[in-house]
Amino acid sequence: MADADAGFRHISVQELAAHEGQEVILKGWLYSKRGSKHLLFLMLRDGTGLVQCVVAADSVDVDTWRIADEATQESALVVTGKVIADERQTGGVELVVSSLKLVGESEGYPITPKEHGVDFLMSHRHLWLRSRLPWAILRIRNRLIVAIHTFFQERGFLQMDAPILTGNAVEGTSSLFELDYFDEKAYLTQSGQLYGEAMAMAFGRIYTFGPTFRAEKSKTRRHLTEFWMIEPEMAFFDLDTTLDLAEDLLVYTIEEVLEHCSEELTMLERDPARLECVRKPFPRISYTQAVALLRSDETADMLAARIQALEEENAALSEELAVNRNRYGQSKKSERRRLDAREIAIHRRTGEIAEALQNLPVWKASARSFEWGSDFGGSDETVLTWHFDRPVMVHRYPAAVKAFYMKRDPDDARLAMALDVLAPEGYGEVIGGGERATDLAFLEEQIAAHQLPKEAFEWYLDLRRFGSVPHAGFGLGLERMLTWIAGIDHVRETIPFPRLMGRIAP
Ligand code: 4AD
Ligand code: MG
Repeated sequence: MADADAGFRHISVQELAAHEGQEVILKGWLYSKRGSKHLLFLMLRDGTGLVQCVVAADSVDVDTWRIADEATQESALVVTGKVIADERQTGGVELVVSSLKLVGESEGYPITPKEHGVDFLMSHRHLWLRSRLPWAILRIRNRLIVAIHTFFQERGFLQMDAPILTGNAVEGTSSLFELDYFDEKAYLTQSGQLYGEAMAMAFGRIYTFGPTFRAEKSKTRRHLTEFWMIEPEMAFFDLDTTLDLAEDLLVYTIEEVLEHCSEELTMLERDPARLECVRKPFPRISYTQAVALLRSDETADMLAARIQALEEENAALSEELAVNRNRYGQSKKSERRRLDAREIAIHRRTGEIAEALQNLPVWKASARSFEWGSDFGGSDETVLTWHFDRPVMVHRYPAAVKAFYMKRDPDDARLAMALDVLAPEGYGEVIGGGERATDLAFLEEQIAAHQLPKEAFEWYLDLRRFGSVPHAGFGLGLERMLTWIAGIDHVRETIPFPRLMGRIAP
């Protein structure tokens, strides 16, 4: 019989199905445990997946039985056993254990199967990462990263790194993290774009993929202070060819996630149909058309219908709750467990509905009175996206709400050749970018008008002095996109260790 000390190599949970009928070694941590006096079911987690390990008192030695009996949540174990097919198990297999070894004890693991508040979980993020939902979300993150690289590499783009320490503000001066760089002022980069432009003039088509920083002084569901941005920059591209690229990128990466992450999406209870409709063509509307849509009767009616649907849902849930409570007294134990779970779910949903019913009338009023020339707020973006089942691309914004480097619309000098891609279901802006100004004198004026220090931008202006060409690009926020794909509420769960205002640890 093989045992943990015999030296044959351990395999991972995700490889188990290929070893049906064989004796194997697994190494991992105890996720959960149930059982009786003579039979224990250990759920083992090894990072690649979960598998049920069955330990029968009468078929293992006393040490193994004792280890199984005493093992606590997150104890590290080496498990030897035989792989048996079992349709009812995830992965279609389970392990019949022949021996166990304890590698690392775990006393009083703080994240128990009961519900925890999100603040508690965030403070224990270093351990929370071991739980199912972070596992699913961050595995999708990995797939998304691979897909993004593949997309660009297959199209002849070079991946180039922009510096993180910089002397330049890119996206306004209000969200800069400033630091002392040997007695000189420096910043953590807000965007690699300006360097991306220099690299595009040298290499044609490039993309950066790196961390970016914004001192966001508000707590929202969409903002991190440290996030990862993918920024393609292309010489000889205009607004339309850049919109095409953004569209192809989103369609491709979503297809890849659908193909490779169905298990993860199921764990997140994310309906794949919501992602399957992300197909070409995406609607393309100008800012001016978007404003008209916001102010339209169509929007007012849509919001009124949403409010009414939520009120009806609320009434139905209250009624169900009352019926369930009446039934509780006469119910059996198993039925009570089901009713308890249902009550928790109903409370969660009615909480969401209450919040929405508070917001929607305000959003409806502000959409109706939206003034041409303002920037869209989070709620305006949300409302716009509810009109479409796939991302909507909005272009040609008022120059006044966009950055200094934007090219003006040759047909209307008030407008910048900017583009934003808004994700459906209210997830909001995932991509921002556009065509860059190419004219030296115009850029000098803009730098002055935005009160930026000209010396710091001399190198950038050189790109307009020596062979200036039309060029364009955009930035895709990795965490924003993942929030949408995973269908979750808050961007903080899409990065292993989120940095937010008021949170720098762990
Ligand atoms: O729209 P933004 O500010 O555009 C730029 O930075 C351009 N320089 C990019 C370019 O043209 N190369 O940011 C781009 C994207 C947003 O659409 C959003 O997805 C994400 O970056 N983003 C954030 N994600 C998380 N937290 C924040 N605080 C973010 N700020 C922007
Ligand atoms: Mg933007």
